[in-house]
Amino acid sequence: MVDVAMNAPRAFVIGDPISHSRSPLIHRYWLANAGIAGSYDPVEVKPKDLPEFVARLKDGAAGIAGGNVTLPHKQAIAELVDTTDETARQIGAVNTVWLEDGKLKATNTDSHGFAANLDASALGWDKAQSALVLGAGGASRAIIHALLARGFGSVRIVNRTQSRARELAERFGPRVSAHAMEDLPDLLIGTGLFVNTTSLGMGGTTVPELDFTAMASGALVTDIVYVPLQTPILKMATAQGLATVDGLGMLLHQAVPGFEKWFGIRPEVTTELRQLVIADM
Ligand code: ATR
Repeated sequence: MVDVAMNAPRAFVIGDPISHSRSPLIHRYWLANAGIAGSYDPVEVKPKDLPEFVARLKDGAAGIAGGNVTLPHKQAIAELVDTTDETARQIGAVNTVWLEDGKLKATNTDSHGFAANLDASALGWDKAQSALVLGAGGASRAIIHALLARGFGSVRIVNRTQSRARELAERFGPRVSAHAMEDLPDLLIGTGLFVNTTSLGMGGTTVPELDFTAMASGALVTDIVYVPLQTPILKMATAQGLATVDGLGMLLHQAVPGFEKWFGIRPEVTTELRQLVIADM
């Protein structure tokens, strides 16, 4: 156990299950680097216990400054906090909470994480081009939010279950459209950014052969899945000569705003941190 000073700020990640979370590794690295005598701990919270957990937080229990929220609580906690910001409302899920002025506030930092990861890649965004997002789940919502916030004029969603893609298109408005899986080859033509948010190609599924060379010149292929780092889709794109960005940076960058809220310092996503997480995978 880390010896934590009485008044040192404490943060947590709650979920069920929670043992797989890499957030403690990331935040403890930043705490140690900054010399902050705070703590960051995983806490297993069953859905039935969430209201009581949140009530204790609101009471300012034991110096807790806030924390991360993962499955299955990302939607339910939005109903229990005092305020959610516009980003969390648009994405429809919360992953970060903090106490401020006696109120428990909530946001979703996945959109920031995705954008900051691409910024850090130095490969650049070409907003003049359309973006193509594969998948229409929770992660896809955060990506679409990021793309719209960054000024993409057209975001096209392709999903196995087309009704889910349509729901997202309706949710995010006229710049977003829904398309069928079989249209993927045609949609790739001239696209500037391809984002995979699915586990396609893993767990025994096969990726259809895609012609990424049909994308716009300077196009970028990125994946938000980071285990393995080189997903089948990234491998295919690399083999075709496309520039790619893996998903690990999104995980690291999404953790930055939370750490800053709880501990008062904006931490850096370093190569050393990336290596630390890779060694733990
Ligand atoms: P997450 O929060 O990670 O996005 P999710 O909400 O379960 O998880 O969404 C998973 C996404 O991956 C969905 O878009 C899903 O497609 P469906 O909506 O049709 O279920 C997609 N997905 C998962 N496995 C897939 C596969 N083998 N082929 C194609 N799409 C797949």
